[in-house]
Amino acid sequence: MNQYELTKIAGAVIAALLLIMGTKTFIDIQQAELRKHAKSAGYTLPAPKAISAGTGGAAATADAGGFSFAKVAEALPKANAENGKDIFKKCGSCHTVDKGGKTLQGPNMWGIIGRPKGSIAGFGYSEGLKGKGGDWTYEHLALFVNNPKGFVAGTKMQFAGLAAPAEVADLLAYIRTLADTPPPLPTK
Ligand code: HEC
Repeated sequence: MNQYELTKIAGAVIAALLLIMGTKTFIDIQQAELRKHAKSAGYTLPAPKAISAGTGGAAATADAGGFSFAKVAEALPKANAENGKDIFKKCGSCHTVDKGGKTLQGPNMWGIIGRPKGSIAGFGYSEGLKGKGGDWTYEHLALFVNNPKGFVAGTKMQFAGLAAPAEVADLLAYIRTLADTPPPLPTK
């Protein structure tokens, strides 16, 4: 390789670099022009639209955190009592389910839907539960198992709560079978 060839190669490299830099500068200038133009024309890029509830994302997120009886009631007609029986294992250490079953740490669950709250004779209910009043409905049971302390202030029931509406629905589908005649499902 002689001096002449080396010079040619160096020249080619420099030419290539110049071309690259030149092109880049040209593009930069073009973009700067575009930006200027965009500003003077008052053009703003469209902001991403908020996902409206019901189209997926936002609604799904709300579902993950939100508990309401409406969701439980919606799931109840198709709820799975077998799965509910499985979920009840969390309750079974404190509650018996058979007719006339004994009291454990908590009262027996036979016929609980429609039973007056705090009505098992001889059981030492908390003041909160004794004072709650009314019968156990699907709605009150759902709210209680979802958040025992939230539904009955000062309850003695040491249970953290079931968060998923579908799980509560399955549980209630099982609990309603703890009766001679299962009570009808809630209408709403
Ligand atoms: C660690 C023991 C324990 C667990 C687990 C537990 N409970 Fe209880 N439960 C209690 C006690 C104690 C009471 C009485 C509460 C009071 O007097 O405030 C109670 C009360 C109740 C009552 C009211 C009964 C009545 O006669 O008014 C219902 C309904 C109930 N529990 C359902 C459940 C369900 C369903 C589960 C499972 C999801 C569950 N419990 C889990 C201990 C427990």
